[in-house]
Amino acid sequence: MTMRQKIEEAAARYPDQRSAIMPALLIAQEEHGHLPGPVLEEVADILGVERIWVYELATFYTLFHTEPVGLFHLQLCDNVSCMLCGCEDLLEHLETALGIRKGDTTPDGLFTLSTVECLGACEMAPVLQVGDDYHGDLDVARIDALLDDLRATVGRVKSVVDDAATRPPGK
Ligand code: FES
Repeated sequence: MTMRQKIEEAAARYPDQRSAIMPALLIAQEEHGHLPGPVLEEVADILGVERIWVYELATFYTLFHTEPVGLFHLQLCDNVSCMLCGCEDLLEHLETALGIRKGDTTPDGLFTLSTVECLGACEMAPVLQVGDDYHGDLDVARIDALLDDLRATVGRVKSVVDDAATRPPGK
């Protein structure tokens, strides 16, 4: 099914096409990885809504990315509960550990570091979202373990891919 078909199918559930902008953006982002200008225009055209409405939503919510993000998007909550539980120190530690500043992506394309508003998981503050997963009750040691884990995952995938690439056909 094409992106257009998926968006049209989702949009059919809404009497007002403006209400379908968020689900349409999620579909488009899943398809393209992020939401550059031409994709936002395509979404607006498919829904038949003003482009500015699509642009406003895409740039307001931190779950949408108008710029490419790394393989792992680290989104650290810096709202009140997380701030009271030390998220500022964790941000500083992440910036040092990754060698980037908030808003940047590591040169190898593995990590993008962002801060976001409340993730709705204040009971486990400070909280970091990575992809669809939440990691809570964080401290520096847990952050380091998480980064090691994510890097190890990439190492395992890379070794499987390398292995498959060097294997003779049919083996
Ligand atoms: Fe961080 Fe709510 S303030 S999850």
